[in-house]
Amino acid sequence: MKLSHRLVAGAAGLLLALPSAVHGHRIAVIGAGAAGSSTAFHLRQFADADGVDNVNITLFEKTDHIGGRTLTAHAFGDANQPVELGASIFVQINEILWNAAANFSLPLQPAGGFDDDAALLGIWDGDKFVYTQDDRSSGWWNLVRLVWKYGTAPYRANKLMQATIQRFLELYRAPYFPFRSLTTRAYELELTFVTSQTGQQFLDANNVGTSFSHDIVQASTRVNYASNLARIHGLDAMVALAPSGASQIRGGNWQIFDHMARASGADIRLNTSITHLDKVPGTGPPETKYVIKTTDAFGVESEEEYDNVVLASPFQFSGIEAGDGVLQNAIDGIPYVKLHVTLFTSPLQFDAAFFGFEPGSKNVPTTVLTTLADDDDDQGSSGADGSGKAGFFSISTLRRVINPSTLREEYLYKIFSPEAVTPEFLSGLFGVEVPDTFIGDTSTTELPVISWYYPHVFHSYPKALPRVTFQDPVVGDGLYYTSGIESFISTMETSALMGKNVARLIVDDIQGLSTGGAVLMENGEEDGKKTVIGEL
Ligand SMILES: Cc1cc2nc3c(=O)[nH]c(=O)nc-3n(C[C@H](O)[C@H](O)[C@H](O)COP(=O)(O)OP(=O)(O)OC[C@H]3O[C@@H](n4cnc5c(N)ncnc54)[C@H](O)[C@@H]3O)c2cc1C
Ligand SMILES: *[C@@H]1O[C@H](CO)[C@@H](O)[C@H](O)[C@H]1NC(C)=O
Ligand SMILES: *[C@@H]1O[C@H](CO)[C@@H](O)[C@H](O)[C@H]1NC(C)=O
Ligand SMILES: *[C@@H]1O[C@H](CO)[C@@H](O)[C@H](O)[C@H]1NC(C)=O
Repeated sequence: MKLSHRLVAGAAGLLLALPSAVHGHRIAVIGAGAAGSSTAFHLRQFADADGVDNVNITLFEKTDHIGGRTLTAHAFGDANQPVELGASIFVQINEILWNAAANFSLPLQPAGGFDDDAALLGIWDGDKFVYTQDDRSSGWWNLVRLVWKYGTAPYRANKLMQATIQRFLELYRAPYFPFRSLTTRAYELELTFVTSQTGQQFLDANNVGTSFSHDIVQASTRVNYASNLARIHGLDAMVALAPSGASQIRGGNWQIFDHMARASGADIRLNTSITHLDKVPGTGPPETKYVIKTTDAFGVESEEEYDNVVLASPFQFSGIEAGDGVLQNAIDGIPYVKLHVTLFTSPLQFDAAFFGFEPGSKNVPTTVLTTLADDDDDQGSSGADGSGKAGFFSISTLRRVINPSTLREEYLYKIFSPEAVTPEFLSGLFGVEVPDTFIGDTSTTELPVISWYYPHVFHSYPKALPRVTFQDPVVGDGLYYTSGIESFISTMETSALMGKNVARLIVDDIQGLSTGGAVLMENGEEDGKKTVIGEL
């Protein structure tokens, strides 16, 4: 910290003056995931629309690709067989993503279940299946089946989810958009009422039956957020229920952000990490300028001066050292879920015995979501990170694929788990010996059980425990932060929304407009509070 400060203080005098008349209003966006790409894209859109013609954007990304946690892998390393490793689905009410897909002519495809006659979705508690249904593109709300088992609970849960999501959508429009404080907006929209309780409490208070919450809602909070219902706030629980009609971009969702970044006209610097951020006095307005230190792919360091900086990555994982006084509002560390995502291919399907069926049974689900067992600790804290007796969050058969080296048809699988998948686990799942190396010796005549294996670990999303304050997007004078929204809702769309919000604030700030404050009601009171969602 001290060293960097001295270095920068020394270097500041040596920096070439970059007067805005020559190089425009310089904005550094750090991180080219959903948030940073959306920031760059909307900065250009808003600046153009308002005739602010001197906006000069640089988008920095430490990896060699755009998208961040929106990350696509390729089965068998074959570019023609993309598969989402990170964020895989979005829905039509995700208007930023949906409009971008349309505007950039990116092809959408349904991201429902395994599209096969034999597709079956089951919810497993480690002892037994508590629920099963046909999995073909039906999503959650296969209501006939749900109602048969759970009565009116699905209707109540659906109504509650719709009301909550409708309320959240107000954040996209005036007077709630743009916003300098997410905490204020969450309060004004009465969404803190939803985030202040666990999903379990919110559903209980609204008379959604216990078994529906336990079986269906909890399976969805586990597959979407690796969290049990008693350990996730009500808003994320409602978001986890929303994915009916889920879609994805054919070839990879990252393409949305790649197009946004390119359409922004930003100078895109891949393979470039920001290591330090310091502030120096500006010569005119703005009064503060920022100096960032970068390291490129060859380890070459440099320093550059900017009028605005947007931190578009969870700060705690960014490796950025902020100099004294840079962060006027300290950015709190947030506990994140460490999630193992394992993709692999196999010619085999799940062994019936593993799930307690007779050999050869046709009732073995092809996608297995999980919930807690009756004898699991009711808070769900038993087992690794609360995964309970099941030990994993989900195992999905994604689709049939062709193994390019054998031209054989196989299955593509994805596992979400709190710990690395072991050969013993896979041996049990398929009922045959999987070698310690996962992929067997291919020189023998015997074909391997696992033909392609691709494990990855993410800091995937915050552990969304109930809370009522959220890191605000303005963290210094001309310094912005996007990741605070992840504790509120963590999705590609919400990160993109925060990027759009920050872009709006910057373009307004350049024009000397002070937008984004508390919402004023017609009677002039500083109180835009809404009515409470659901019942107290
Ligand atoms: C397995 C998984 C499944 C998910 N499923 C879904 C889903 O189905 N639907 C959905 O909507 N969301 C899903 N999410 C959540 C979603 O991926 C995230 O909410 C969203 O992508 C976050 O975007 P971001 O831009 O805020 O952050 P990130 O995507 O993390 O982007 C930050 C970027 O900053 C870069 N960076 C970091 N530090 C520096 C530095 N010092 N210098 C330069 N660059 C830096 C990083 O390399 C990264 O590219 C999922 C996430 C995971 C992990
Ligand atoms: C943006 O700033 C860079 C300096 O990093 C400069 O080379 C470039 O000409 C500027 N672009 C515009 C359009 O002002
Ligand atoms: C980034 O680095 C990778 C190797 O790590 C290289 O293949 C790629 O060409 C680099 N891209 C850019 C734009 O520098
Ligand atoms: C493109 O995006 C804008 C919003 O940015 C939206 O109004 C418009 O409908 C989109 N165009 C298409 C073809 O969807």
